[in-house]
Amino acid sequence: MPGTLEKLFRPSSIAVVGASRNPSKIGHLVLRNILSGGFEGRVYPVNPSAEQVLGLRSYPSLSSTPGGVDVAVVCVPAITVLDVVEDAGEAGVEFLVVLSSGFKEVGNMDLERELVVRARKHGMRVLGPNVFGYVYTPSKLNASFGPSEVLPGKVAFITQSGALGIALMGYSVVEGVGVSSVVSVGNKADIDDADLLEFFEEDQSTSAVLAYIEGVENGRRFVEAASSFSARKPLIVLKAGRTEAGARAAASHTGSLSSGPALWEGVLKQVGALQVKDVEAAFDYARLFSAYSSVAGLSTLVLTNGGGAGVQAADILAENGIYLGEPPRDYVEKLRTFLPSFASTRNPVDLTGGATEELYYLALKHALDHPEVDSVLVLYCETKVADPLQTAEAILRALEDSEAEKPVVAGLLGGEGSRRAVKRLAERGVPAYPTPERAARALAALHRYAWLRSMLEKRRVQAQPQLALLHE
Ligand code: COA
Repeated sequence: MPGTLEKLFRPSSIAVVGASRNPSKIGHLVLRNILSGGFEGRVYPVNPSAEQVLGLRSYPSLSSTPGGVDVAVVCVPAITVLDVVEDAGEAGVEFLVVLSSGFKEVGNMDLERELVVRARKHGMRVLGPNVFGYVYTPSKLNASFGPSEVLPGKVAFITQSGALGIALMGYSVVEGVGVSSVVSVGNKADIDDADLLEFFEEDQSTSAVLAYIEGVENGRRFVEAASSFSARKPLIVLKAGRTEAGARAAASHTGSLSSGPALWEGVLKQVGALQVKDVEAAFDYARLFSAYSSVAGLSTLVLTNGGGAGVQAADILAENGIYLGEPPRDYVEKLRTFLPSFASTRNPVDLTGGATEELYYLALKHALDHPEVDSVLVLYCETKVADPLQTAEAILRALEDSEAEKPVVAGLLGGEGSRRAVKRLAERGVPAYPTPERAARALAALHRYAWLRSMLEKRRVQAQPQLALLHE
């Protein structure tokens, strides 16, 4: 049911149940994040022992708040949550976000089941329990006890691990990968990955999803939602429990049934998801897909001032099925007009260690303008000849000056200057990485996604006549 989570992400009003007066308590921190994040709807602290919390009038219950509540964030001990559910039902709440721990993850299956049964009875949906909350930047909503600073962007994180999710929020700011949303799903008693994928598939503010998954309850629903999502936007999955030892750890963390690692690998391939093995790769892909989600063809050109960096990149691309062809003849002729005679004009194009910023500009601009080049990987090894920041500026200038819209991915290897250059490019929306290998892997992921998407499309087209037969 796409669109059914609309009010969770775009509420008119939100209440924090258990909005503590104590600044170190979770309910207080959530309320503070909602207020400091700039949420423009109505905000109600609910705490029967307080008159005011953080300058707002406090209410003894949800049903005593004026004007209705769309979302109630529940921050009271598990044992009192069922009373809150009844109160929320009376108040006409639509979504309960239950932060409290003490449910399935510690063996309290009955309590968790009862929570969902009672919520459903009142027509409410439940996010959690056992979550750190959620963030949705288009609504300036940070209803979590994670960091207050959130960088708005286009990637949505869905995370089954609270601690990892909170860490990812901080990491996204440091790495410059902005988020449209961060959703902690915890025990997934009701709202699960499939519900969220359905929402994000339609969400204009989200261009890709990065999901940390330990396990799913309803495999069929997940496969349907993930396939549908991947056919339109990239889905990056960090699957925990890839080994038997990891699967056991996942079971004791959120009480998830993780299933066999081999089965998962097959499922993720089938649904067209991009599986990553660590947080670094997850962020590298997220950065890439924040900028691009498609590439016209396989013709990739590599530009480098270091032969070794070019070889490393060529290896990684080849391992991922991307073989570098010879550059177009008329492009080589252009290169010959400004490159030294000893420069290699094969692919990778070696601009030589003496390459200046201007050479980078010219080689990239001509490549972008050439109709037979589909994407460009720009590699740079720090030298005294080309300043890293100025090289980054040359890349940006070439992109600005060319009318072609082709993926450009950069790998800048070196010291502090190169690090700053990577950041500068990232801030301007160019996926840039501190090593040639990471840049090549990111570009390969773009090609892989293009291939996965075409496979999903083929499967959809092939399935149509069969479906028609079924309906006859
Ligand atoms: N309605 C509204 N407020 C209530 C309430 C109710 N039914 N019952 C209690 N309160 C108030 C309390 O008076 C208190 O406010 P005060 O500090 O101003 O007096 C506040 O709500 C919090 O209640 P308290 O009993 O102090 O709970 P707590 O803050 O110590 O713990 C949880 C509550 C939910 C944080 C805790 O039980 C928990 O589950 N912690 C783990 C959370 C977690 O890690 N989640 C997963 C993250 S990935």
